[in-house]
Amino acid sequence: PAAAAPGGSPLEFDAIDPVRFEVDSFDVPEGFAWHPVISWGDKLWSDAPDFDWNAQTGQSQAQQFGYNNDYTEIQEIEGTDGTRALMFVNHEYTNENIMFPADTDPQTLAEVTLAAHGLTVVELERKTRRHPYTPVVGSDYNRRFLADTRYEFTGPARGDDLLKTVQFSTGTRTQGTFGNCSGGLTPWGTLLSGEENFNSYFRTSGTSAEDKRYGLGENELARGWQEIDPRYDATAEGLENSVNHFGWIVEVDPWDPTSTPRKHTSLGRFKHEGANVIIAEDGRAVAYSGDDEKFDYLYKFVSHESYIEGDREHNKTLLESGDLYVAKFTGNSPSGQIDGTGELPADGAFDGTGEWLPLVVDGESAVEGMSVQEVLVHTRLAADSVGPTKMDRCEDVEPSLASRRVYVACTNNSDRGTDGKAAADETNPRAENRDGHIVEIDEQGDQASTTFAWNLLLVCGDPETDEGTYFGGYPQDKVSPISCPDNLAFDSAGNLWISTDGAPDGIGYNDGLFRVTLEGEERGRVEQFASMPAKAETCGPIVRDQDRTAFVAVQHPGEDGSFDEPTSMFPEFDEGTGPKPTIVQILPVAEERPFTDIGPGD
Ligand code: FEO
Ligand code: CA
Ligand code: CA
Ligand code: CA
Repeated sequence: PAAAAPGGSPLEFDAIDPVRFEVDSFDVPEGFAWHPVISWGDKLWSDAPDFDWNAQTGQSQAQQFGYNNDYTEIQEIEGTDGTRALMFVNHEYTNENIMFPADTDPQTLAEVTLAAHGLTVVELERKTRRHPYTPVVGSDYNRRFLADTRYEFTGPARGDDLLKTVQFSTGTRTQGTFGNCSGGLTPWGTLLSGEENFNSYFRTSGTSAEDKRYGLGENELARGWQEIDPRYDATAEGLENSVNHFGWIVEVDPWDPTSTPRKHTSLGRFKHEGANVIIAEDGRAVAYSGDDEKFDYLYKFVSHESYIEGDREHNKTLLESGDLYVAKFTGNSPSGQIDGTGELPADGAFDGTGEWLPLVVDGESAVEGMSVQEVLVHTRLAADSVGPTKMDRCEDVEPSLASRRVYVACTNNSDRGTDGKAAADETNPRAENRDGHIVEIDEQGDQASTTFAWNLLLVCGDPETDEGTYFGGYPQDKVSPISCPDNLAFDSAGNLWISTDGAPDGIGYNDGLFRVTLEGEERGRVEQFASMPAKAETCGPIVRDQDRTAFVAVQHPGEDGSFDEPTSMFPEFDEGTGPKPTIVQILPVAEERPFTDIGPGD
């Protein structure tokens, strides 16, 4: 039997060894197996065409599961004994180099890649909790959110001139969502999705301060979408504000297939990795969100209205109105003790206090010279003027419902401490930070507070080759090496789970899924649970430890290959075909009934 799990979690396993980056395999602990739940191109409706590597069309893609799955969430359907569930998935971007034969015409490439973006809701079913899920083709819940799906803006910037274009003249609505990276499940059962690298889909003149700050400019528009819809070339007269329709937090109600998804301007506009909500002690909804860019910021939103248990329609309005803050961290050790190597300061901890600096409070701008609408649409510039802490790329920011502490995955920042850039500080303590770190924030009993305490839980890396790593005080020779933390999740016992993106280029191992003990003497113990195929990032993840199962979204497997010479064969290793982004379920091999005997229709 495997070692007892921290916190009494039923998900017991012995950590796997890290897998060298050259290896194209999917690895799980002894006694577990993996099962592809749904892959790029799988049909969502029975009349959809079968996936065809050589004949994808925009129309077929619109009825199939999209590409590059990032954030993934599963909610069980009540009264089904866990046998039916709704899954929500973000389709962040496309890898044209491995999706299409080299001679694919530009029109087809544009149409397919456009339809491969967006979101999916799909119903899942399984025979029992011990069986793997399979998609319900043709379920009434199934839905693709495409480039022409309508989204309503909410909040103070709704209807503002900054959101008006010749296509959307009221500034109250738009179509489509792009660059959807991570997200979060709200306490009222809706999903939040972060529009992250939206800038790459648009061409602008690139001359304004706003364009520069958001990485907008004269992009080449590699996917050719401007041939389908002129707004992607936002240099055209009247289309300039098209770029302001993206960079928001999107809220989707997966339980109502006819609902209109919303983009909440109250949470600000930046490269939102995602957003996660916790209800404060006084009932207000608090949402944390990171801006994933080197030296960008961490944000907190506090709703004006309070959560009402059981009043879903009311709760769905909570993110439409509230206060917006940006984080400033202060270390408690002399800056001279932070030498950029990751070596601990004399007090033995990277830690200190912090402040949430106001950007919008009580419906008023807290930023001199900017209106509320300007603060919310050009949030990066507003934040610049109040002096927050420049972070090493905040990815997932996730409050623990067990401890109420908040965890921030800072994935890496190769420019930290280089010429002209911010030096290492106690919160981001390594120069040329290749492996990332995890910040732990304690709001000290008031989640809506404007002050907090913090410390670093992990300074990531391979302790065998890097002395500047730290694992919450746990012995360095007893942990799995981990690099580039990205997505976060918690199990029912309050353990933290981390999925990684970028480990192959750093510590030389494939990306993976890891459990981190947070409480007790083993705090900081990192154990690897899964390892991804070649060049794949680990996303999702969802941990259902009561069922001894977990899910990961395997994103961009074999991204460095070509259509004719793939570098990954995942997940159909035996078929010899190229890679497909896929949602994978990991579950125990039943001793009395081998996993391979369990399948759809069984
Ligand atoms: Fe899409 Fe910040 O990762
Ligand atoms: Ca300190
Ligand atoms: Ca991410
Ligand atoms: Ca990432």
